[in-house]
Amino acid sequence: RPKLGCVKDLAESSDLTSIPSKYAYYDNDIEVIVERQIPTIDFSLLNSTFPDQRAKVIQELREACKEWGFFLVINHGIPESLMERMLDMCKDFFDQTEEEKLKCSGEHVLAPIRSGTSFNASVDKVFFWRDFLKVWVHPQFHSPPTPAGFSEISLEYCKRTRQVARELIKGISESLGLEEHYIDKAMDLESCFQILVANLYPPCPQPELAMGLPPHSDYGLLTLLIQSQNGGLQLNHNGKWVNVHASPNTIIVNIADHLEILSNGKYKSVVHRAVVNNKATRISVGIAHGPNLEKVVTPATELVDNKNNPPLYHGIKYKEYLELQQNNQLSGKSTLDRV
Ligand code: SIN
Ligand code: FE2
Repeated sequence: RPKLGCVKDLAESSDLTSIPSKYAYYDNDIEVIVERQIPTIDFSLLNSTFPDQRAKVIQELREACKEWGFFLVINHGIPESLMERMLDMCKDFFDQTEEEKLKCSGEHVLAPIRSGTSFNASVDKVFFWRDFLKVWVHPQFHSPPTPAGFSEISLEYCKRTRQVARELIKGISESLGLEEHYIDKAMDLESCFQILVANLYPPCPQPELAMGLPPHSDYGLLTLLIQSQNGGLQLNHNGKWVNVHASPNTIIVNIADHLEILSNGKYKSVVHRAVVNNKATRISVGIAHGPNLEKVVTPATELVDNKNNPPLYHGIKYKEYLELQQNNQLSGKSTLDRV
């Protein structure tokens, strides 16, 4: 049977003082890391009965999407205990034996439940210091059979996250000058394709030489992420890396490739990465929200005029896009560049 080759097991082998050479990650980019505050959106104001409060938060969303493509969401209404339990369930998943995890080692990149290491171990030239679990949770709900409770917690957490994502997308739709329900309807978000990606980054003896996840943008419209601790996620802002700090009850949101396509580049997906540390395991749970897998996403006709604002992207079926992204090296915006 194929071994998963988890980086967790490697990190836990007691005598590990240096990383195996296949994890040595070289990047020619100049590393400039800056501390900047990324925008915060008060979600509760989207439902404000005072129209000027809603207008204000829509304006804040517009600025956050244009200037950063990343923002923190507070007052989202998802209980903090549910977020904690979701992270704990993922920890319990990764703590299982290799044999249990192998039950979920879906071979195909489009398997609805798939656990593994690095990004795509069959094509990665350099391995990333990361184990993962990817589960399709909507419109059909899937769950790994173990650990006990995973299914119940993830069903509830994904449902709540989906509601928050759809409300944010309504606000974003309005911020683009479109009707509030435009994106929700055009992308048929009632049958939104939602995928849960759990990441585990164990302590690494040489964190400066390894990478948890290399610079990339996400597929889909919007990614909502929670994490067990700060210090790992960095986003690229005007060529510089910015550390993302979020307090525990906060959701980290980023614009993904299909919102860039739909908005014809008005809002851009943002390149981000996960670095590792030598002290503590970090777990993150990102939920990608996209249209139905069969949907062909093109720039919104309302945002295109062939004279001054020609369409910048070709239409592509969401499922094909996912396959392209998952089958190739994870690298910057290389998948979006193809469409
Ligand atoms: C991701 O980009 O998918 C995960 C980033 C993180 O672990 O913070
Ligand atoms: Fe990502």
